[in-house]
Amino acid sequence: MGNHNGSTTNLNGHMRTHNCGELSKSQLGQEVTLCGWNNKYRDLGGLHFVDIRDKFGLTQLAFDEFTGDLSVLKALSLESVIKVKGTVRARPDSAKNANMSTGEVEVSVKEFEILSQASEVPFLPHGKINATEDLRLKYRYLDLRSEKLQNILSVRSNAMRDARLALYEEGFTEVETSILYKTTPEGARDYIVPSRVHPGRVYALPQSPQTMKQLLMIGGTDKYFQICKCFRDEDLRADRQPEFSQIDIEVSFSSQEYIKNLATKIVKKLWGYGESFEIPIMSYDEAMRRYGSDKPDVRFGLEHHIVTDLFAGSGFSVFESVIGSGLNKMIFVPKNMKEFSRKELDALVDVVKPHGGKGVAWFKLSDGKVSGGVSKFITPEVLASLVELTGEKVDGTFLFCADGKPSVAHSSADALRRHLGHSLELIKKGDYKFLWINDFPLLEYDDEDGRFYACHHPFTMPKQECLEDFMSGDPEKLKGMPAEAYDLVCNGYEMAGGSLRIFQEDVQSQMFKVLGMGEEEVKLKFGFFVEALSYGTPPHAGLAFGFDRTVMLLAQTDNIRDVIAFPKTNAATDLMSHAPSIPDADQLKELKISLDS
Ligand code: AMO
Ligand code: AMP
Repeated sequence: MGNHNGSTTNLNGHMRTHNCGELSKSQLGQEVTLCGWNNKYRDLGGLHFVDIRDKFGLTQLAFDEFTGDLSVLKALSLESVIKVKGTVRARPDSAKNANMSTGEVEVSVKEFEILSQASEVPFLPHGKINATEDLRLKYRYLDLRSEKLQNILSVRSNAMRDARLALYEEGFTEVETSILYKTTPEGARDYIVPSRVHPGRVYALPQSPQTMKQLLMIGGTDKYFQICKCFRDEDLRADRQPEFSQIDIEVSFSSQEYIKNLATKIVKKLWGYGESFEIPIMSYDEAMRRYGSDKPDVRFGLEHHIVTDLFAGSGFSVFESVIGSGLNKMIFVPKNMKEFSRKELDALVDVVKPHGGKGVAWFKLSDGKVSGGVSKFITPEVLASLVELTGEKVDGTFLFCADGKPSVAHSSADALRRHLGHSLELIKKGDYKFLWINDFPLLEYDDEDGRFYACHHPFTMPKQECLEDFMSGDPEKLKGMPAEAYDLVCNGYEMAGGSLRIFQEDVQSQMFKVLGMGEEEVKLKFGFFVEALSYGTPPHAGLAFGFDRTVMLLAQTDNIRDVIAFPKTNAATDLMSHAPSIPDADQLKELKISLDS
């Protein structure tokens, strides 16, 4: 209950005098009025009790001094809304409840009123909720009555307030940008809205306010922020919603250092950390090498080691075949952490399969002797090198993920590491480990499409020292070129991402060209933006926190739906309102569009 904003003033006109979680011995003898939901009714041989509940807690109501009609209590359904007036009194010692914030007192009811009789509810929103997630989403307003969701709404609201305060302190201006706009590419599909006034034309909902915040910099806004909605039509996951929120930030005349200091300040404020809190920086290349991921969970060890070349001439074809083009990554699990059974080792293949991995090779080291799995390929020289890599001379199990495609070896070994971290319970509850990942690649080359895609977005500046190579457009130089881009990672989540921006018209035009856009397409989609860059653009940089993910971390939940008041399913539907829904024929006629389903 501790997360709710408890501050109130004495504004008149509220129906209640106290909430249901605040009465204690300090109000003994006071007359109070409470409003809330019927959480429970008990008739203990003629002694009648009701627990009244609101988001702040529960209070026991006793009816032994009530002179009205008690039969209404029997008819009172669970979750009905009631109002009571009565006197605060101490509970007898035997009836005190240490688990309840109001457990030392009760209210002896004098007046009782049913404000709203509830129909039978599909599930009770308190205690251990006995309902599937689908049912809870269909009746979201009932689920919202739960302590857990009300608590998270408060965590979210407090985080929003704290982030705003931190940004106001630094002289930021909050600016609202358009929702009905034009494409703002962030790597997903746009949600589009047909225009009635201009038949055949559409608005695109912003995937982020990226171009608008840059235009605000060109417009002299200096330091902008906004807590805004973004819309992305993409495959959904446990940490992705089609409609989500960002704390979006942009700063003129800024370096990476300033943006990082600012983001650190926000984290400090939200997490309540002291002055000494700092966020370490790691390069993208190092993160990939040590963790196989650009958002590593560094709350535990089990780092990767690249052992590809050690196996030249080893005779193990799986390992030899990846030398040259691919990668072989090793994870060492010391015996004091885990002794695997054969069955457990065989099951590890299922962890890497969804990532394209073909297997997890292994062998064990005990008292200087190797055994099991691929041990027959492990020469004393190879063993010595492997042991040196682990940095510890102890017994344990060596696990390997090899693949001809480095990306598959990385993601298989990443999945394996995360699996071990969880299954071996290496993660301390309540632990947070933040990390900046720096120097992301600028572009990603897609072999199938035969073209480059922007890794962050097309407005990201190539690393300063690569600008000349970038302008040359030579595809070989573009591959692997680093960008002035950074992500803030926490516990395996990408919590925020940003970059220094391209502020020169010719560099931006070159970027669109590199991304395979023709001049006409650029003019149509971004002509206004490229033109704006030509009228005096300050160097600028920014980042955006995924606000829902930030709240997930603060509230310690791994389901993004927990932190959004009215979330959508993984199929992008709202089970409560049945959105998306079929439009009226008249609406379609007005919009001059027809829909095939
Ligand atoms: P990016 O696309 O990295 O950058 O998004 C910033 C942060 O938003 C969160 N996020 C999401 N959260 C929930 N559901 C989603 N579908 C989703 N997609 C992204 C992530 C991510 O780190 N305009 C740039 C920012 C910038 O360069 O300033 C942008 O949107 O936590
Ligand atoms: P095999 O030669 O297919 O019998 O495999 C021998 C061992 O290597 C088994 O433990 C497999 O799980 C493992 N293995 C197969 N492919 C790979 C791979 N790409 N990376 C790591 N181990 C693998």
